[in-house]
Amino acid sequence: MITIPEQDANERRQVHIAETLSRVRSLDQGAEAAPARLAAVKTELIKLAGSGIFNCEDFPTAADGSDQTYFLHADDDGRFALYLLVGRQCDWVPPHNHKTWAVIAGISGVETNILYAREQFGEAATDIRVQARTEVPVGAGRGLVLGPLDVHSIRFDGGQQTTMSLHLYGLAVEQQIERVKYDACGHFDGFYDTVAAIMPPPTQMIRVDP
Ligand SMILES: [Fe+2]
Repeated sequence: MITIPEQDANERRQVHIAETLSRVRSLDQGAEAAPARLAAVKTELIKLAGSGIFNCEDFPTAADGSDQTYFLHADDDGRFALYLLVGRQCDWVPPHNHKTWAVIAGISGVETNILYAREQFGEAATDIRVQARTEVPVGAGRGLVLGPLDVHSIRFDGGQQTTMSLHLYGLAVEQQIERVKYDACGHFDGFYDTVAAIMPPPTQMIRVDP
């Protein structure tokens, strides 16, 4: 059996990511990117997710199997931010939007995305409540596109299999200003003001160096 040196595997991964994002950059048109272009971005991300370059050895779960998030890339201006989520289970994630486009692609296991309908019941911008309308299982070979105002939450349904998925955003999570979250009843619950509200604390955020 040939064992690929870690350095080579890491370099190969960086090349795949760089090539994919190069193609994605040519498709992007800002936060309101056209659906057809985002569908093409999804195709690119599914291809990257299925390229065999992400594994549990290099991207382990937290010790108790709970979800871990790995930061893989963002451009210097924060655009095209790529993360890898991995875990056998994940903590409850409140329904939220991203204020930029988001594309998700499965690598292993199942990341179920719960999508919510929004209802404006008053005049104020925050007079919106959300209700779960459908669930989209995202496993290997599958992907999902979200617009800037789409509301979703996620859970891992891979059973004993580790769930691993890629999340690509038009803008890095810490720069997604006034990202809205809702409580378990679907009521407005304020804005995320720090990345720690949904991502692991920075001390747990693991940067994969090129
Ligand atoms: Fe999200």
